[in-house]
Amino acid sequence: MARAHETQIMTEVSEAEIAVHWKEEAHYLPPAKFIGQANLTDPAINQRFSLDRFPECFREYADLLTWDHYWHTTLDTSNAPYWKWFVGGRLNASYNCVDRHLRRHKNKAAFIFVPEPEDESHAAITYQELYVRVNEMAALLKDFAGLRAGDRVTLHLPMTPELPITMLACARLGVIHSVVFGGFSGEACGIRIADSGSRVLITMDGYYRNGKLLDHKPNADIAVATAQKEGQKVDKVLVWRRLRDRPATAAPMVDGRDFVVNDLLKNYAGDHVQPVSMPAEAPLFLMYTSGTTGRPKGCQHSTGGYLAYVAGTSKYIQDIHPTDVYWCFADIGWITGHSYIVYGPLSLAATGVLYEGVPTYPDAGRPWRIAQRHDVNIFHTSPTTIRMLRKAGPDEPKRYHHQFKHMTTVGEPIEPEVWKWYYEVVGKGQAVICDTWWQTENGGFLCSTKPALDSMKPGSAGPAVPGIFPVIYDEEGREIPTGSNKAGNICIRNPWPGIMQTIWGDPERYVKTYYAKYCKNPKSKDWRDWPYFAGDGATQAPDGYFRILGRVDDVINVAGHRLGTKELESACLTVPEVAEAAVVPVVDEVKGRVPEVYVSLKPGIAPSKVIQEKVVHAIETTIGKIARPKEVRIVPDMPKTRSGKIMRRVLAAISNNMDTGDVTTLANPDVVEQIRQMVQGAGRVATKAAPEDIKRFGDER
Ligand code: WTA
Repeated sequence: MARAHETQIMTEVSEAEIAVHWKEEAHYLPPAKFIGQANLTDPAINQRFSLDRFPECFREYADLLTWDHYWHTTLDTSNAPYWKWFVGGRLNASYNCVDRHLRRHKNKAAFIFVPEPEDESHAAITYQELYVRVNEMAALLKDFAGLRAGDRVTLHLPMTPELPITMLACARLGVIHSVVFGGFSGEACGIRIADSGSRVLITMDGYYRNGKLLDHKPNADIAVATAQKEGQKVDKVLVWRRLRDRPATAAPMVDGRDFVVNDLLKNYAGDHVQPVSMPAEAPLFLMYTSGTTGRPKGCQHSTGGYLAYVAGTSKYIQDIHPTDVYWCFADIGWITGHSYIVYGPLSLAATGVLYEGVPTYPDAGRPWRIAQRHDVNIFHTSPTTIRMLRKAGPDEPKRYHHQFKHMTTVGEPIEPEVWKWYYEVVGKGQAVICDTWWQTENGGFLCSTKPALDSMKPGSAGPAVPGIFPVIYDEEGREIPTGSNKAGNICIRNPWPGIMQTIWGDPERYVKTYYAKYCKNPKSKDWRDWPYFAGDGATQAPDGYFRILGRVDDVINVAGHRLGTKELESACLTVPEVAEAAVVPVVDEVKGRVPEVYVSLKPGIAPSKVIQEKVVHAIETTIGKIARPKEVRIVPDMPKTRSGKIMRRVLAAISNNMDTGDVTTLANPDVVEQIRQMVQGAGRVATKAAPEDIKRFGDER
């Protein structure tokens, strides 16, 4: 605590703060040793990236890249809000992440692969090796799979080097990759294949997770069948082998459709594929995320703007130097992995650790053993992982000699208590922490401290990163005064190079979801009229730091993963006995929020354990195990308004031991009391302040 800032800022406690139960925290100063070596130490950055220098300030990020043709227009807003960055430029992402590093860093590790089984040896993949493997895979994709620039291909791969290799091989050809998180079910993968129009699926036969060799190939068969039902035929399934000496699956290979990549690659040994020079505006990848309605949204990210933004933020916020050993402990199947395992770090010639498994396998010391062994000095993970490790092994980090200079947290709000454990125990009081707030749609960080320049405040994501100008609006679109600590909807005033281009195949939904709410003039071509609506509640303290309160829409953030309540509810409705379903978030000590399911049954059907199990199974097969509900509660009826709307807010209150408020205007107030007794027991539960996202949950349906 020695570094706690002397001038702790005291503010009046606002309603929002009571709601989140967090008091104003003291600031911590970045360690001098960190500042001494940091990439960004010049406070003039704030002037360089001031609003009157926008958008030209982002030239600084674009200049981190190697362009085949330099661009002429920084930002084209003529088709607002479909922003175009670095117009006229051409480049190739795989060239920028691999080829251009060969001259100086050929023999440096690009990735150090750490398999989950602790007795399997780690593998360092040099930039030269990465270059060879990406080229061979690109040759295969081009020649054998017939893929060309602009085609989409779906990847359903675990955390092994084959995933970034395949992504970079796609990027080399200008093929748009759509990576589906390996833990998602075959059905979820199939829906995304169909939405993206992929005719090739790339998968792996199995992988290690929590001590078990999981059989992954059956998911590919389900995915292909699901895509077919949705009207998309998959011609080829390319299957990587996880094990060298035998298949990791018992599932048969379908003749003429399924092919083992490792065998095919023998035909392309030593091949070179010229990187395809792509317009800055060409899509690099799609990344699906959950929204308010059932269908996942394919966030389309650009080549030039995206790559420039992740390179810039990796350099300034992650403080990556080529000499660092960087470990982003996230899954590449999420945006964090795309931006801060693959594209950002590789564009800076970083060395990154790639770990296959779970944090606590075989015990809670595993991450610290990995960090010690590879002398990792930058560590990056989610609050859920930190909470899990703190719970399972609070003193474990002390047993190892790792020393981080920098640690990141991302994906959910981090509680000050957990932040302090991260700082004191994991970081041994010597590492800077960046609490980074952003989203799949954003490409890269929006809020975070600049690690050598700003002090840290536990529980707050900090001020905005360079070139980002947040504003908090109330429901009516009035600006909430800066520094007032009042909660509202956080928006970004300006576009930035990492912002998604559109929703794949649904441009109207893009405008509706992110801009319609606060657009000042739908005909305007001026970016000032198009603030970006993030869908998160937030407050801003007088010191300018933002605290993110969680989602304001019907999205539940489970362990940093966004799940749409509608997606979960429609999965429940596939169980024939279920008449109605409502899903609500419940506060969870480790995962932040978890879904809880309420179902009512069709007339004449008696509640049973079997039905509850069927509901769980339906959710796991349509979405994946991460969506597994904490409870499935069979209720006599849903609380409803007189117009028949299910009151999810009332159910969320009950599940979180909150007061349900006035329910007398409902169509069936008695059922609320019945459900309350079922869930909370006979005794009245005291009214408690609740987290903002739970309080607001279900408001706007
Ligand atoms: C939440 C992950 C608080 C937020 C990169 C956002 C956070 C959603 C933080 C995006 C943070 C992300 N503090 N909340 N530092 N970072 N969130 O798309 O609700 O998987 O809207 O992107 O996670 O999740 P996504």
